[in-house]
Amino acid sequence: MSGKKQNILIGITGSIAAYKICELIRALKKKDVSVKVILTKAGEQFVTPLTISTLTENRVYKDLFVDDAGAHRDMPLLEHINLSDWADVCVIAPASANTIAKIAHGIADNLLTSTVLALPKEVPLIICPAMNVNMWENKMVRKNMSVVQEIADIVGPKKGRLACGVEGMGAMADVEDIFEVIVKKLRSFNGK
Ligand SMILES: Cc1cc2nc3c(=O)[nH]c(=O)nc-3n(C[C@H](O)[C@H](O)[C@H](O)COP(=O)(O)O)c2cc1C
Repeated sequence: MSGKKQNILIGITGSIAAYKICELIRALKKKDVSVKVILTKAGEQFVTPLTISTLTENRVYKDLFVDDAGAHRDMPLLEHINLSDWADVCVIAPASANTIAKIAHGIADNLLTSTVLALPKEVPLIICPAMNVNMWENKMVRKNMSVVQEIADIVGPKKGRLACGVEGMGAMADVEDIFEVIVKKLRSFNGK
């Protein structure tokens, strides 16, 4: 990677695997890329904005509607458009069943899903599901996965001991594997 810093946008959703993304951010920062994170409301239950903003050296993006009172802007603050234009690669890790369902149906009811819907078509989207084995095997989730795999690279999940205590499919892919896919995508990305 050379020249202009490349921009990686990470969406963190409401899964216990969210804490692992701190390591992913650290590994990416060593590559001298820029990282910004969108945290869903549920994601915020699992990692704090302070941790994420410290690791990314950027503020954390959470709200679709930003309280801009007093800023005296001529233009509304279109956070989802700015972020989708900024990203060279967009990664959702961990990706909850809920967010996957929204993406599969083109729903854009929060900052993350609105940004994903506004991503230019050239920008690679990587989705790293993480969920309970019954959720993963649920017919609706299976349907939604078949839709999202048409528009995104899917990394994981893998078999493992899940947070609910059972052994099965649904654990988020290893951070090292997600990192490798991101780096590969950055190398092959020719710009927008
Ligand atoms: C302790 C706990 C762990 C959870 N882990 C997961 C998970 O790994 N995967 C998942 O799809 N949902 C998980 N959920 C449920 C999601 O947080 C919930 O569906 C939420 O609405 C997701 O919102 P989001 O997609 O906007 O982040 C968990 C909930 C709790 C309370």
